[in-house]
Amino acid sequence: MELGFQSPALGPENRLDSDKLLAPLRAILPEARLEWLPLPEVPELGLLLLNQDYPQHTLTPEQSLRIMQYPAYWCFCWASGQVLARYLLDNPDVVAGRRVLDFGCGSGIAAIAAARAGAKQVVACDLDRDALLASRINAQGNGVVLDYSEDFFADQQHYDVILVADVLYDRANLPLLAQFLERADEVLVADSRVKDFNFPGYRHLGLYRADTVPDLAESEEFSRVNLYRGIAEARQL
Ligand SMILES: C[S@@+](CC[C@H](N)C(=O)[O-])C[C@H]1O[C@@H](n2cnc3c(N)ncnc32)[C@H](O)[C@@H]1O
Repeated sequence: MELGFQSPALGPENRLDSDKLLAPLRAILPEARLEWLPLPEVPELGLLLLNQDYPQHTLTPEQSLRIMQYPAYWCFCWASGQVLARYLLDNPDVVAGRRVLDFGCGSGIAAIAAARAGAKQVVACDLDRDALLASRINAQGNGVVLDYSEDFFADQQHYDVILVADVLYDRANLPLLAQFLERADEVLVADSRVKDFNFPGYRHLGLYRADTVPDLAESEEFSRVNLYRGIAEARQL
């Protein structure tokens, strides 16, 4: 299968893994390709993502349904992921020398930025095994090493920082905001989905703007990303 590899750090040995990712995508979008794409807000990094010119406006109802049934989140870099990655690269002290977990890593964008910013260890965590495979390829393509977890609850390790980018679209994840504060000294949440974000321990850091890559033509409101910082209660005293 043809791939748009342009990362100097990726070679033919990555082809097998990327073919594993492409196969389920092609079952939905037969013309789908994976391309190494630049990120407008994070030009230091690139990611293997769905081709920019995928036929978003000509999907049949059946294709749209199949996309919903197999949400390949990992083949997009979400606006929130880009904003969080930008923040970490601009503020490396937040993660430098620290143990970090990226919850709902998708493509691995925030985890990779944390590793680039000098984190001591970064665990990319996602319940979707394809996301972990994509994160592995993307980490290699950006010259960083990550660890991986498919179950946040499988161990009770404590982290210095937990990163959370665009996982609150699923309301079932909202109660996790409290649990993150029990599992880490600090939590950084990037989100464009929740209105009236008001959770104990979290405060607003800023409002940023980014678009999902490749473009999903989402409503403009989802390009406005809020960043929140949560501090564990014990550290607030
Ligand atoms: C919209 S994507 C965001 C990916 C990436 N953080 C970004 O910003 O580009 C959401 C990701 O969170 C993962 N996810 C959602 N709920 C999760 C959960 N409870 N545990 C682990 N991963 C979860 C999904 O599988 C998906 O890969």
